[in-house]
Amino acid sequence: MARPYICLLALAAMLLLGIATISRSRGLRDKAHQSAPRIPSQFSQEERVAMKEALKGAIQIPTVSFSPKELNTTALAEFGEYIRKVFPTVFKTSFIRHEVVGEYSHLFTVHGSDPSLQPYMLLAHIDVVPAPDEGWDVPPFSGLERNGFIYGRGTIDNKNSLMGILQALELLLIRNYIPRRSFFIALGHDEEVMGVNGAQKISALLQARGVQLAFIVDEGSFIFDGFIPGLKNPFAILEQTPMPNMFGDGPMKMALQELANEFSFPTNLFLSNMWLFRPLVSRLMERNYITNALVRTTTALTMFNSGIKVNVIPAVAQAIVDFRIHPAQTVQEVLKLAKDIVADDRVQFHVLNAFDPPPISPYDDQALGYQLLRQTIQSVFPEVNIVVPGTCVGNTDSRHYSNLTTGIYLFNPLYLQPQSFRFVHGINERISVQAYERQVKFIFEFIQDADTDPRPVPHLHEL
Ligand SMILES: *[C@@H]1O[C@H](CO)[C@@H](O)[C@H](O)[C@H]1NC(C)=O
Ligand SMILES: *[C@@H]1O[C@H](CO)[C@@H](O)[C@H](O)[C@H]1NC(C)=O
Repeated sequence: MARPYICLLALAAMLLLGIATISRSRGLRDKAHQSAPRIPSQFSQEERVAMKEALKGAIQIPTVSFSPKELNTTALAEFGEYIRKVFPTVFKTSFIRHEVVGEYSHLFTVHGSDPSLQPYMLLAHIDVVPAPDEGWDVPPFSGLERNGFIYGRGTIDNKNSLMGILQALELLLIRNYIPRRSFFIALGHDEEVMGVNGAQKISALLQARGVQLAFIVDEGSFIFDGFIPGLKNPFAILEQTPMPNMFGDGPMKMALQELANEFSFPTNLFLSNMWLFRPLVSRLMERNYITNALVRTTTALTMFNSGIKVNVIPAVAQAIVDFRIHPAQTVQEVLKLAKDIVADDRVQFHVLNAFDPPPISPYDDQALGYQLLRQTIQSVFPEVNIVVPGTCVGNTDSRHYSNLTTGIYLFNPLYLQPQSFRFVHGINERISVQAYERQVKFIFEFIQDADTDPRPVPHLHEL
C-alpha cells in the first residue's frame, strides 16, 4: 500500500471499496454448486516447506522504492529472475502468456477454456518501502523465521500477495488445472511511488487491447479482528480543525448495520438503530485513529520547512499536508475547506498530486467479484461469519485500472489485529507461516471459484 510523501498540500487519498470482515465462529456453509471437478487445497509437507522458503527468498531481495526516480533496479531485475526460478510451471505453461512491462513489472495472461466468460485480474506489487535496520528484531531483508513468523519488509505489504498468487497458480498447474475463466495477474514494480511505470503502463496496454474486466482483486483490506470493539480505547485526535465527519455516506454505514448482530448489548442496539444513534456511533468512530479515517478525510502534516540560518528571519515557510479523501468528498471540496480553515491570503496553496476517490464498487447480489470473494472467504475462513463491504484507506495500484472495470475489491486474506496495523510500513513487519499458507489456500480456492457460478447469496439478515 503506498503512502505518498511527495505532496505539497497534496490531496492524495484513496478509499476504495474494500471488504471488511469480522470473525466469530460459525460452521461451513453449503458447498458451492460446481461444474468442474474440484482440486482440493491440500498441500504436502514438502510443498508447504517450499512455499514458505519461496516467500523468504522473495523477502531477501531488497526491491525498495526510495522515490519515483530512485528504485533498486538491480533488485527488481533479480526479482524477475527469482520468480522464473521458483515458479517454473507458471512460466512454461502454454496457455499462460508472460510479458515484462515498463522493464520490471510483469503481466501474466492466463487463457481460460471458455472465452464467453469475462476475465478478471489479480494485482500485487513487487516493490517495498525502505526499512532501516534500527528497531527490527531481525534484519528487515533477512526473511528470517522466528517463532512461526517470517520477518521482513514486504511480508504483509505485499510480497505475501504476490508470492501467494504465483504459488497458488503453480500448485494448481502442477495438478493439471485448466481454468475456464481467463484471468490476468499484474505485478507492478513501483506501487509505493505512484505506479506510473508499472501499473499505469500495464493498464494502458490492456486498454489498447480492448480488455474489459469483470473485476479486480488487490491488496488493501484484511480480515479485521478486534477493530470495532477497539472503539472502547479512545485515541486522541491531534487535529485542531478536522475535516467534517462524513459518516453515513458510503458503504461504512451499511457495513455497521450488517454487523450489528455480531455485537453484544448495547452496541448491537446502537448499530441496528442508526436512525436514532447515528450521531453517537459517528462520535465513537472518531475517537479511534483507525476508524476515524473511515468517517472523514484525514489530514497529516508530513513536512515543514522554513529558515536557512539561525540568525535570519525566514521569509517563506512551506508545509506539506497529506490528505486521504473520504469517498463522499472530492479534491476540490477538500481544497476549499482547507483554504477556508486557513483563511489567510498570504498562504498559497499548490496541489502537488491529487486524485478524487474512485466510485464505489458494486456489492449487490449481482456483483460477481464481491460474491466470489464472499464465497471463498466463507469456505477458507469458516470462522468468519460476516463479510461486509467497507472503505479502504490508502493508495494502491488499482486506481490505475479504473477504466477496465467497475468492480475493484481490496482484500488481503489475512487476519489483522489492531496491534498489527503498525507493521504495515513499520518495524518488525511479519507474517505467520500458517497465515501465509492460508493465503495460498485462499487464492487456490478463489481461482477455482471464479470458474463456477457463484452460488445464490443467503441474504445477510438471515445469517
Ligand atoms: C539493491 O539490491 C541489491 C540486490 O539485488 C543489493 O545488493 C543492494 O544492496 C541494493 N541497494 C540498495 C541501495 O538497497
Ligand atoms: C481512462 O480513459 C480515458 C479516456 O480514454 C483517459 O483519458 C484516461 O486517462 C484513462 N484513465 C486511466 C486511469 O487509464
